[in-house]
Amino acid sequence: MAADQTLILIADTHIQPESDDRLDGEDTFANLNAVLARIAASRIKPDGFIFAGDLANGGEPESYRRLAVVVENLQEVYGVPVALALGNHDAREAFRNDLLKRPPLTELHNDVVTIGPLRIIVLDTLVPGRPYGRLGHDQLGWLKLQLGTRAEAGTVLVMHHPPTRGVVDALNQILLFDVEEFHNTINGTDVIGILAGHVHHPSAGVFAGVPVWSGPAVAYALDPCWPAETFRSITGSGFSIINIRDRTMVASAVMMPGMQGEIAVTPVTASLIERWLRPPPL
Ligand SMILES: [Fe+2]
Repeated sequence: MAADQTLILIADTHIQPESDDRLDGEDTFANLNAVLARIAASRIKPDGFIFAGDLANGGEPESYRRLAVVVENLQEVYGVPVALALGNHDAREAFRNDLLKRPPLTELHNDVVTIGPLRIIVLDTLVPGRPYGRLGHDQLGWLKLQLGTRAEAGTVLVMHHPPTRGVVDALNQILLFDVEEFHNTINGTDVIGILAGHVHHPSAGVFAGVPVWSGPAVAYALDPCWPAETFRSITGSGFSIINIRDRTMVASAVMMPGMQGEIAVTPVTASLIERWLRPPPL
């Protein structure tokens, strides 16, 4: 295993069931296959693939079964780990049953994946039925325990909801909620980078002295220069190449060719925000 690692970050695939395979006109499964074909045709030699959540658009079992075929194929062709994180659109039971082929539990899906000297820790920020994210006390305790030992090349965290606020006001309301506790947990540890999705446009920040990268979505994009009081979805698909060298992380966005056509402009009203921010159902 080389001292440097190249990871492919696949964010927000939003796969649909085959019978209903358009999301606002977008064939998200075709977008994923186009991204993977581009990687296959490139000079890139991935040491691992990371799916950063919103795997299935509606958490449907069939969407996870479609994705399972893709993941198995990646493992077979590249022979490298594929790390899978959950996002707010996902459903834990169907994800476990139909993608991981494990008993369909509703427990958090977190994971530790080792790629040579590099450690990847996958976190679960999914709050069922809600668009925002939360790690929770128990998971943060688990993370603290993991980070108690250091990895030779450092640790990269994968989480769907980024802890950093970006440019889209409405999105800023539905990011990670327990940010302070998360900060305290990773501060002073060997974490060298955080990889996320959720915001559907390439966005970089720094949190607890650690670079944070939210990669472009595979499914569609959100316009970071949007008309006031709205959310603007646009066509556009991409992925990220992540290079880890000497305990530093560099992220490069790769956008697929195509026009950035408008999909939908959604008014962001007070009642929409109120609906988003309701506490999770018990
Ligand atoms: Fe998403």
